[in-house]
Amino acid sequence: MNYRYWGRKPLLYSLRFHRQQLERSKNNCDAEGRKQLQKLEQYLAHLEDEIRSRPFDPLVSYYFQGRLAHLQQQYLRWQQKFDQASLIEVQQHRQDGEHEELVQINRVPIGQHRLPPLPYRFDALEPYIDAQTMRLHHDVHHQGYVDGLNRAELEMEKARKTGDFKLLKHWEREAAFHGAGHYLHTIFWYVMHPKGGGKPSGRLLRQIEKDFGSFNQFQQHFSEAAKQVEGAGWAILIWSPRAHRLEILQAEKHQNLSQWDGVPLLPLDVWEHAYYLKYQNKRDEYIKNWWNVVYWSEVEKRFAVARKVRWEPF
Ligand SMILES: [Fe+2]
Repeated sequence: MNYRYWGRKPLLYSLRFHRQQLERSKNNCDAEGRKQLQKLEQYLAHLEDEIRSRPFDPLVSYYFQGRLAHLQQQYLRWQQKFDQASLIEVQQHRQDGEHEELVQINRVPIGQHRLPPLPYRFDALEPYIDAQTMRLHHDVHHQGYVDGLNRAELEMEKARKTGDFKLLKHWEREAAFHGAGHYLHTIFWYVMHPKGGGKPSGRLLRQIEKDFGSFNQFQQHFSEAAKQVEGAGWAILIWSPRAHRLEILQAEKHQNLSQWDGVPLLPLDVWEHAYYLKYQNKRDEYIKNWWNVVYWSEVEKRFAVARKVRWEPF
């Protein structure tokens, strides 16, 4: 398992998510299941005490991430025994085609999206992106999208149960707005890194050269697209599984003008909250500096998976 350095706060976020998971699971099982669940809750409470009280450094963080992974495994085992309904199964084929692994992952229950922990410190992208912006952007703005999406999903669930769809249009819009915000920001945090910058390599670089002429032409086109987003929105590099090409899109207000077929590979947030504290109205400068934190290996990883999706070309 690859660990990234998590501070105390992301670990506590993660614990909070696990606690909600356990809490919700109580309704889906019998008495024996609940008894077993209590043991997991005790483990979780104990872990939280430790995380709060121990002095923190990267080694301690990795140790706790290991404990959290252990908790998650225990929970999966519990689900297999007591709560099959909330599991989905994903079949993963190994590259050599000889083995087939059955991996079980949690589906996100309705209304239970969560804020992903920032995979580096708030000040890690200084001097290009300042710590205060990162803190507000992640903890306040992104949390707002998560809360908004959860609320919309729960309201739509309620509508399905009661058959009262009067406000459906409103909640669908809310789900699109907050859902697009949640998913794009989740990718955005991971496509940036203090060790970012430079150029991609390998297959992604070759594809960029093929589809945009050269890396420089691509970078210029992408920067212009970001500058010219009308009002709030994003510039996004996507892979089009139908045209079999990379494409650059502008996403105004992020739920509009979306190409639902595409897989976002490299989004750049040009909402004012992403840069205003440090750059004020100088979006150009923010865009120029942003290239220094682009984490190409993450984009390459996304591309490697996305390019396997292919539909009949039209
Ligand atoms: Fe944003």
